[in-house]
Amino acid sequence: MRPTINSHRLQDSLEELGAIGAFDSEHEGIRGVCRLALSDQDATGRQLVMGWMKQAGLEISVDQIGNVYATRSGHDNTLAPVMTGSHVDSVPTGGRFDGTLGVLGALEVIRTLNDHNLTTHRPLTIAFFTDEEGCRFGTDMLGSAVATGRIPLEQAWGLKDADGLCVRSELERIGFCGPEPVGSRKPHAFVECHVEQGPVLLHEGFDLGVVTGVQGISWQRLTMTGAPAHAGTTPTSFRRDAGLVAAKINVRMREMCLSGDYGPDMRATMGVIDPKPGSVNVIPGRVVATVDLRNPDDHAMKRAKTDLASYWRALAESDSVTIEAEQTARTPAVAFDAHVQDTIAAAAESFGLRHRRILAGAGHDAQEWSRICPTAMVFVPGENDGISHNPLEFSTPQQCERGVNVLLRTILSLADEPA
Ligand code: GLV
Ligand code: MN
Ligand code: MN
Repeated sequence: MRPTINSHRLQDSLEELGAIGAFDSEHEGIRGVCRLALSDQDATGRQLVMGWMKQAGLEISVDQIGNVYATRSGHDNTLAPVMTGSHVDSVPTGGRFDGTLGVLGALEVIRTLNDHNLTTHRPLTIAFFTDEEGCRFGTDMLGSAVATGRIPLEQAWGLKDADGLCVRSELERIGFCGPEPVGSRKPHAFVECHVEQGPVLLHEGFDLGVVTGVQGISWQRLTMTGAPAHAGTTPTSFRRDAGLVAAKINVRMREMCLSGDYGPDMRATMGVIDPKPGSVNVIPGRVVATVDLRNPDDHAMKRAKTDLASYWRALAESDSVTIEAEQTARTPAVAFDAHVQDTIAAAAESFGLRHRRILAGAGHDAQEWSRICPTAMVFVPGENDGISHNPLEFSTPQQCERGVNVLLRTILSLADEPA
């Protein structure tokens, strides 16, 4: 018997969760989602999903960093489970699919097995992980990184948001600082279904992507300090303009991408540029800015970081400012497991889907679990050129259904594997 998912139920759940933290985006003219990690909206979303997990008969456990695991028994519960999941937090201007498709897709897999009264050989665990986005506390994949031992719990608990609120107190405030010790789980395999968040699958006419790995990511926070002074009266030669320095670094980042010196796929973004005091007639005396670098080649990433740091050190000298740099997140390029990739590809074949191998451009919880157990991901194409971190993010019901059906069949196959 080869069950398939209930697409309407999946869409209903995506819609219901998407209503939590929804806002009307003036720019795009549609509704977006803002569910920052450990905010009230995140808490409401978490509760909704946990309620569904309970209704599906799963046994729930919350760990010390707020990751939520829900397990369904197998025939042999002495065997390691197959785990699947993603995240329910969003960026400030998010859409309805990033992370949530992987969480609600996992739930739909369980609901489908329940509908058909099917028990797998191995137990199954579906999960959502704390602060995958990293935009509130500065470090992405935080919950899965702590669960898999890359980031120590105490360090993660101590991270602060822009208002000085720390991860631990926010976990406690929303009731998700759980009792389960972190680092105790070792699944048989991990699979995550996620939207591609890029244009490749759609433009090349594929129904699905089998993800080969994730590119390296480096995040830094720069604090540039010059001198605030009158915009009209301060001659150019007297200025110590931190805003100008931020702009020069941003332009340099683009030049580096275009140079080809760091490989064809280097990407660089200054997503936060926050000048102080922030007045039309005051030279910015201080700017906090972020530098997001991505590269599938770790050596090229290292060179890019070194060269960019040399550039800003020279700028600090020439423009009479100080620049402090803090590394807030850093993950190397990750290669996913060949067998799990092949299992996903075989599941896609069995549905007659056109699929290709593809490298992930975004960070994902799966990359953290890949250090602990064989791991790979299923990518679902996105409309609107695959735009993501934007309210226009959209995958059709059919695209979602195909991805989650492949997730289901992949899980069934992995869960049948012997010890
Ligand atoms: C997470 O979405 C990231 O890649 O920034
Ligand atoms: Mn995501
Ligand atoms: Mn994201």
